[in-house]
Amino acid sequence: MNTIWSTYVQGIGTLYNTRLLRFSDLFQSKYREVFRIDDKKRILEIGCGPGALAESLARWYPSAQVFGVDRDSNFIAFAKQQNPLIQYTEGDATALAFENESVDVTISNTVAEHIEPSKFYGEQYRVLKENGVCLVLSARRGINIAAPCISEQTKFEKEIWKRAEKQLAEVDEKFSVCAYPQNEAELPLCMEQYGFRNVTTEYLTINLTPDNPSYSKETAHAMINANRQVSLDGADDLLRVATDVITADEVEELKRIINSKYDKRIELYDKGIKQWDTNVSVTMVVRGEK
Ligand SMILES: C[S@@+](CC[C@H](N)C(=O)[O-])C[C@H]1O[C@@H](n2cnc3c(N)ncnc32)[C@H](O)[C@@H]1O
Repeated sequence: MNTIWSTYVQGIGTLYNTRLLRFSDLFQSKYREVFRIDDKKRILEIGCGPGALAESLARWYPSAQVFGVDRDSNFIAFAKQQNPLIQYTEGDATALAFENESVDVTISNTVAEHIEPSKFYGEQYRVLKENGVCLVLSARRGINIAAPCISEQTKFEKEIWKRAEKQLAEVDEKFSVCAYPQNEAELPLCMEQYGFRNVTTEYLTINLTPDNPSYSKETAHAMINANRQVSLDGADDLLRVATDVITADEVEELKRIINSKYDKRIELYDKGIKQWDTNVSVTMVVRGEK
């Protein structure tokens, strides 16, 4: 039983809600054009987390069988509940429980930077069939602008985050988060180094701006509430990461403030008072063939 990621790094709510939007059907054609895997039958997602991308892949490629592997037990239990038709298993990307040459596509989103490259690529190369496709999705610097009603902090908030600063900064190192970062040149070079050919790179921008009239009210609310969830998870993290300096009552107060800010943001949206706050993610897609 391994629950490190979901407990200390990113919670289910954070990963699932943000990825539901990033891999929403609204952007399906963009992803499919870049993935070029329409004829493939067995797709394996490595480090699938709570499963939002795997669910999208199952919808976008209905004739394919989708598998998901992650080391975190909480993510796999949640993912299985969300979609029992996807074959999720708890497992390590450095020792995949798949036969040699048994899948057509391997895909991962924001996972490569956490796993030693010879194992990350070596295992995918091993399980891929001849002409199989390896897709590595990697988050690049995006744009994140919050509405003033969210970004303005009370004295209480400032003081809490300041007090927990040291403990929060230690989390990544303690759990080897992002231990193998690679820039936009190193990623494709690395894929080639481990034997993949016809390597290509593409960059997809996903623009999550609730006030854009092209988005429905439901989608706009989902965007605002995904950010709410990330903030609430961040407050809950304090109880696990900074237990010695923050009390449970303080976390409850912090969550009350966060909820009132996001309620205000929803109210402004519903009244048509635009804020133009935005979250633009830039995803690099590196594609290689075996
Ligand atoms: C940044 S999260 C991304 C999760 C998911 N791909 C998403 O976009 O929501 C990184 C994921 O990689 C998983 N992970 C890290 N190292 C792993 C390993 N060696 N084997 C399997 N999963 C691993 C973590 O448990 C976590 O779910």
